[in-house]
Amino acid sequence: MKEKQLSRIREYVRQLFHDDATGHDFFHMERVANMAKQIAEAEKANLFICEAAGLLHDIGDQKLFSNPNKAIDDMGIFLNSISMSSKEIACIKRIIKDVSFSKGEIPDQLEGKIVQDSDRLDAIGAIGVARTFAYGGANNQMIHHPELTSTSIQHFYDKLLKLKQLMNTDTAKEIAEERHRFMETYLKQFFHEWN
Ligand code: NI
Repeated sequence: MKEKQLSRIREYVRQLFHDDATGHDFFHMERVANMAKQIAEAEKANLFICEAAGLLHDIGDQKLFSNPNKAIDDMGIFLNSISMSSKEIACIKRIIKDVSFSKGEIPDQLEGKIVQDSDRLDAIGAIGVARTFAYGGANNQMIHHPELTSTSIQHFYDKLLKLKQLMNTDTAKEIAEERHRFMETYLKQFFHEWN
């Protein structure tokens, strides 16, 4: 039952994000879902909710949807149509609402904390570097400019280098260490070649 629901959710998410070129493509959703499941195992959280919310976490994001409320409503209708309980749907909606960095929310449920950590882990490390420049390019941002602050390189200092400290779970903190070190190495080399 749960496996069948997850495969329907995967299909739904694939349709929504298949042609995204801003670093929020279907593979991002899949990585976040897999990471959320892995952390949920270590932290003894609800695996199904973590995996499902991981797949769905970017639905209704204001950067990606022109009508975020409609996207969330449509998702609710879809989840209901695959026989998810109203309790599960409410839980997933709450996780999605709190996931974003810009809102600065710390979810109160463990499952929400885990999905937020998983999304943040996908924003750092080698994949984080790639996603940052993809997002910058798609939004007409420069790679770097010594006097401008709206660049992709600046995004490392504004957000990405802070994420390690903001991880909610011990499991995510541990995974973040290596990815954080890689970004520091990357930036060091970047400025070595720039100067
Ligand atoms: Ni995301």
